Amino acid sequence: MSAPSMTLYYNTASPFARKVLVLLHETGQTARVELKPVTVTPVAPDAAVCHENPCGKIPALCLADNNVIHDSRVILDYLDHQHVGNPLIPHDGSARWRRLTLASLADAVLDAALLMRYETFLRPEEKRWGEWMDSQGEKIARSLAYFEAEAVTELSSHFDIASISVACALGYLDFRQPNLGWRSSYPRLASWYREVSERPSMLETQPPA
Ligand code: BEZ
Repeated sequence: MSAPSMTLYYNTASPFARKVLVLLHETGQTARVELKPVTVTPVAPDAAVCHENPCGKIPALCLADNNVIHDSRVILDYLDHQHVGNPLIPHDGSARWRRLTLASLADAVLDAALLMRYETFLRPEEKRWGEWMDSQGEKIARSLAYFEAEAVTELSSHFDIASISVACALGYLDFRQPNLGWRSSYPRLASWYREVSERPSMLETQPPA
């Protein structure tokens, strides 16, 4: 087997990096990418990451020609063009826009969950803003309610960009907001998630215990 030709800056706790790892597993490309673990927060950037991605965010993917691709959506699109199997992002038609829109809503859940995490983990206690935290929680609740009512059947149809993004978002909620108890409010989503969580790509990319 040839040496990896790409390098991924990532962290096992990052749900955005997890989406990339899941796609690599699902498309049989893990051997093509060397994994470089880094620790970054909005107030403690990593110098090597900033060199590759000026805004300091992970994931960032360095290609063999030294070009760098970020963020997770662009990396997923790039990697989905590097394999010969069925695309995980439909190339055209209404399916493309629908699946990308579901993926975008899942990313919005992640953005809100990450903001909540930073608010409690990073921001000094005296500067925390409860109403702002509540508003992130409401964004998450509205989005999960939408998935529950409108999208479970679509998510079940195949494991692609939409399903990967929703699964990684739910996984991150379990990881960082375990008290949310989302399963009781969204039982169809919970049942779908139970099933997709057993996929090797999901099992092998779980956040740290
Ligand atoms: C986290 O610890 O939740 C985290 C770490 C890196 C990127 C995003 C989230």
